[in-house]
Amino acid sequence: MKLKELNTFGFDVRALYYSSPVSTEEAKASVAEARSKNLPILALGGGSNILFTRDYPGLVIHPRIGGIDIINEDHSSVLISVGAGIVWDRLVAYTVGRGWGGLENLTLIPGNTGASPVQNIGAYGVEAKDSIESVEGFYFDNLSDFKLDAESCRFNYRDSIFKRELQGKTLITRVEFRLSKNPKFELSYGKLDEEVAKYGQPTLTRIRQSVADIRRSKLPDPAILGNAGSFFKNPTVDKVLADALQETHPQIPQYPATDGRVKLAAGSMIELCGFKGTRHGNVGVHHRQALVLVNHGNGTPTEILELSDMIRRAVLEKFGVEIETEVNII
Ligand code: EPU
Repeated sequence: MKLKELNTFGFDVRALYYSSPVSTEEAKASVAEARSKNLPILALGGGSNILFTRDYPGLVIHPRIGGIDIINEDHSSVLISVGAGIVWDRLVAYTVGRGWGGLENLTLIPGNTGASPVQNIGAYGVEAKDSIESVEGFYFDNLSDFKLDAESCRFNYRDSIFKRELQGKTLITRVEFRLSKNPKFELSYGKLDEEVAKYGQPTLTRIRQSVADIRRSKLPDPAILGNAGSFFKNPTVDKVLADALQETHPQIPQYPATDGRVKLAAGSMIELCGFKGTRHGNVGVHHRQALVLVNHGNGTPTEILELSDMIRRAVLEKFGVEIETEVNII
């Protein structure tokens, strides 16, 4: 099966087997079959956060499980259960349209709902974990079901148990979100408040529109230019290093992180290393957002890996800071 249309870098790789189940039962049947052949299994959502470096020698399972169901509601909130295959931004549109707050800042993040807990997607001061109540799925090894509450998912910045102990071991089939009927707006990231003010008093719809405006102004559309969003995570460093960098490179934005550590804007460091807008063969660094690596058309995964290595080494050499990839490299 060709995966070119199923990864937003647009790389021309193949999977030995592929299935796109519409129900948990169908998903379990294809997992059981792959296991009987001793094949590795890879769960794929929208393919927007993945770099395939070669053909996948096993089963790629791409759930199309649907449904947005109300589980319960009261005067202040609503609990919904969402199928893993629901396109993320369709969910955002649906919830904003009903006046339910929580996901509006996360509009236009590519991918499917089932992937949202894995790396705890986040943008503009909000993370998926702020609204996730639980995550449901099954284990590949014995096909038994699980339902993990948010605490058990051990969410962190672009991180969760699904990227750690459970990596490669489960398929997420549904996610429950608790959304607010009296939403508190989160407008503190960057100039979001000013963008929203252009439309008037804040509302969920206006926030969604403003985030979409900002994203469209600096993030490339994967349908036009292959990319997987931020290729690197923003690193956290200890206060001593952050203060030293503040002296030598005050242009690098710093944000408070947990445990007294400081998060640094990797895009700014990559830009200061001179990579922004540059090309390496047929791939390159986006000209408006240096965290994003792009495929100019006939690029290869090898070129992306080479460019990413050059960037990591340059940032380490110039600032003494290690940056990690955010994209899953397969
Ligand atoms: N910056 C630069 N040069 C650049 C890019 C950024 O100087 O080339 C500076 C900006 O001027 C700004 C700061 O760095 O002061 C932060 O930039 P931005 O708001 O664009 O956010 P980011 O830290 O680069 C993160 C997420 C994005 C998310 C935005 C907005 C990560 C790895 N990335 O990017 O998420 O959309 O914040 O919340 O945390 C993604 O994960 O794929 C993604 C796109």
